[in-house]
Order: sequence, then C-alpha cells, then structure tokens
Amino acid sequence: MEKNVTRAHNFNAGPGALPLTALEQAQAELLNFNGTGMSIMEHSHRGKDYDAVHNQAIALVKELLSVPEGYEVLFLQGGASLQFAMVPMNFLPAGKQAGYVMTGVWSEKAYEEAGKLGKAFIAASAKEGNYCRIPAFDEITYDAASAYLHITSNNTIYGTEWQSFPDSKGVPLIADMSSDILSRPVDVSKFALIYAGAQKNLGPSGVTVVIIRRDLLEQANQNLPTMLKYGTYAKDNSMYNTPPTFSIYMVKLMLEWVKAQGGAVAMEKRNRQKAALLYDIIDASNGFYQGHAQPDARSLMNVTFRLPNQELEKKFLEQAKQAGFVGLNGHRLVGGCRASIYNAVPYESCQALGDMMLAFQKKNG
Ligand SMILES: Cc1ncc(COP(=O)(O)O)c(C=O)c1O
Repeated sequence: MEKNVTRAHNFNAGPGALPLTALEQAQAELLNFNGTGMSIMEHSHRGKDYDAVHNQAIALVKELLSVPEGYEVLFLQGGASLQFAMVPMNFLPAGKQAGYVMTGVWSEKAYEEAGKLGKAFIAASAKEGNYCRIPAFDEITYDAASAYLHITSNNTIYGTEWQSFPDSKGVPLIADMSSDILSRPVDVSKFALIYAGAQKNLGPSGVTVVIIRRDLLEQANQNLPTMLKYGTYAKDNSMYNTPPTFSIYMVKLMLEWVKAQGGAVAMEKRNRQKAALLYDIIDASNGFYQGHAQPDARSLMNVTFRLPNQELEKKFLEQAKQAGFVGLNGHRLVGGCRASIYNAVPYESCQALGDMMLAFQKKNG
C-alpha cells in the first residue's frame, strides 16, 4: 500500500473529505474482507459479515449522537432530496399544515415538495438579505395544530447555521442536518425526525441517515408505496431490500474514526478551531475578505466569503487551485469563495488555506 500519499486540501461542499484512516482501512480490506476472500461489496446483505457491519454502523450513529431510547436509526437511499418528499408523504395528512423555516435553497426545496403533497406554510424566512442570517426564535410562527415544523440546521450554500434550536412548543420538530450532523453534540430528544445525506460528515454518498421517534412512526400514513414508508425501514432494520452496503460500510469506518477522535464533543472542538482560524482572518482583514453570514449565524462547516471584486476572486481561486486547494468556488447564488470544512477536513488544511489568504491579501490588498 502506498504510504505518505499526497492528499489534496479538500474543501468540497459535498461529497466531502473522508478520513485518511478510513480510506486506508477500506483499501486494505477491499479484496479480502475479514478473511472471506471477498470485498464487503460482494457479500450478501443477508450474510453474517455484512450484518455485523450494518449493525455496528447503526450502533455507532446511536452512540456518537447520543440517540435516546424511543428512536430508530434508519438507512435509506435517494439522498436528502427524497426526504423532502418522504417527510410530508408520511407526516402531512389532509386537513393539517406543516411549517417550514426558510434559511436557504435547501429549505425552499423541502417546502416546495411539501406543497405538492399537502399544505405547507412559511413559518419564518431569512430570504431577505440572501439568507445571511438565521431567524430569531420569536420570528417563528408556531401553529400548535400543525403537523410538524421543518428546519435546515446548516445552510451549505450560504454558510449559516442554527447556533441553538427552538423549543417547537409540542409541534414535532424535523431537521435536515445534511451538512452539519455529528459536527457537534445535539440534543436529539428535541427532534421528532432528523435526516442527513451521509456525504458530508458521515461518509460517502449513497446512504441517507434518518433518526426518527417511534411515536411519530406510529402516526405515519400507511397508504404509501412500500419503499416510501419509514415504517418499512424500521420494521426490517433497513434491510427490507438491498441496502447500499458499501456506503454503509464506509459510514461505519468514518464513525469509528470519529469515535477514536473523541466523538461529537471532540468534533465540535476541532471544528470550532478550524472555523475560528478562517473567520479570524476574515475579521482581521479590514474588509478585504467579507463574510456572507452574519457573525451570529456563522457556520462551523461552510465558511463563505467575498473578496473586494470579481477579478480578485478569480485570481484568488486560480491561485488556490494551482496551490492544490480543491472546491473553494462559492455557490453561484452567493458567489465568491466557500471553504467547506467538514469533520474529516484536517486542521492543517485550514491552516494552509489561512496562510494562503494572508499572503494573497498582503500582495493584493
Ligand atoms: C442542507 C442540504 N440539504 C439537502 C441537500 C441535498 O442532498 P442530496 O444531494 O443528498 O439529495 C444538500 C446537498 O448539498 C444540503 O446541503
């Protein structure tokens, strides 16, 4: 096996970086998993080797996120985007409405899907100002009779993140945590359902993690196609049909790495250090670098910033590319630059980016 391989400084927004040790283990086991003479990809999902991997991955999600009793952890496919539809299909009955807090394009997409399937309303919106903030709790309209309240915990495109979560006053709280799950400890008991595509903080693409409270499961619409019912996954331990076995195996390896680092608490500490390094440079730049997010809404996962003009942004991005940095282009809806610094992005990559930002400003500021 090639050791000391040169790894890119990977700031991709998703799929994102994976821990080197997880990749190395997958490489070492690729041809011969557990002495079986086969890759885990070639194993039956009904066999004992895969079964152990599957159950370890579920147990690690439960352990690392401190999932309380009374919740199920499910593995689905279709990405977070399918969850935008499955949530209202299962939990938005006729005669009820669901509230959506709009904090970016992903919230808009979730809201649009709900509107196709039932009645959805905007409970609060930060659209004015191009989603540079998170609405205050007292801006949120709670309708006690509503089916649920949906939020997006981290807004990948804009670089904003909920710093704490609202008390939804008895209304089931549902969160899309695709871009910040397991980046910090979260009180899961506040939520009726959490979903996240794995490809930013938990592993590779191909699997979506759903954490769902059992009492909600019991209220779900039963008149749905089998694969669109959460109950199908809960009943068969996410093995009603063939699960994405290799993706789940990689999730297991990544979660073992998270555990070895010290779990969610250690992730938060590390992520705060990485984010602070970049935000401090932005704040000390006398306006050369301008953050998109309001300081009190800043994301630990996606650091979005602009330079004084588009010419300098282009130059910065070109130089960054030449220097081996990957994925720093901002999303077209915000422009400028975005450094996605998910769990597996090393501190050293942030340090290298910070050094480059300082040198670039010195030369061009
Ligand atoms: C917050 C958020 N929600 C949903 C999605 C869509 O996820 P998927 O591509 O898994 O459908 C993304 C993708 O970047 C995202 O960042």
